[in-house]
Amino acid sequence: MNKIGVIFDLDGVIVDTAKYHFLAWKDLADHLGFEFTETDNELLKGVSRVRSLEILLDIGNIELSEEKKQEFLISKNEHYLQYITKMGPEEILPGATQLLDTLDTLGIKYVLGSASKNAPLILKQVNLYERFAGIVDGNSVSKAKPDPEVFLKGAKKLNKEPEHCVVFEDAIAGVEAANTANMISIGIGDEKTLHEADFNFNNLTEIPDNFFTEVISEKI
Ligand code: G6P
Ligand code: MG
Repeated sequence: MNKIGVIFDLDGVIVDTAKYHFLAWKDLADHLGFEFTETDNELLKGVSRVRSLEILLDIGNIELSEEKKQEFLISKNEHYLQYITKMGPEEILPGATQLLDTLDTLGIKYVLGSASKNAPLILKQVNLYERFAGIVDGNSVSKAKPDPEVFLKGAKKLNKEPEHCVVFEDAIAGVEAANTANMISIGIGDEKTLHEADFNFNNLTEIPDNFFTEVISEKI
């Protein structure tokens, strides 16, 4: 069991912040005069803040100066933070706390591997910050998912071989990053969307009791 390390994505796996990103990006789209839907918002999952703005501007068919882009990145984040700073432990997604408890019991260490620069703040808001053995977030990587950098840095923090790391992800880009890193990828969410994952579950409550002790142990 000690061979295994776990890396969690944050948004969409431990908490649902996509709804807050949506409100903040939609507000910017309204300001710029075009429609931004929840379906469009799916394209931003797992994607960095800068890349999210590029995708948003593509949808609106809008070109902006670098200066304007910087200005909107700041105002969008300020707006997003208004929601985030109101979050509490009740927003932890079903099954997440229980899964961390199981890992603690089994003596399996876990770290965070998120594209978000707000990841430490969000973990503190929901009282989970202290539980993680390390945090790799949008401030500590130079290449965004699907580049494997975030997860390889996570493996270093865990002091584990990449092939002994299990990654929980809800985004296509994140599953791809885990697969490229040679890790075991667990897709959380729609199985059709995340079909490249090694294992699929709709949410964390579906992880079977013997998942680490038998299923994963047999694979590595
Ligand atoms: C996560 C979310 C993305 C978000 C990114 C950056 O990966 O899934 O939707 O764009 O983090 O978040 P940030 O908090 O740095 O703006
Ligand atoms: Mg995510």
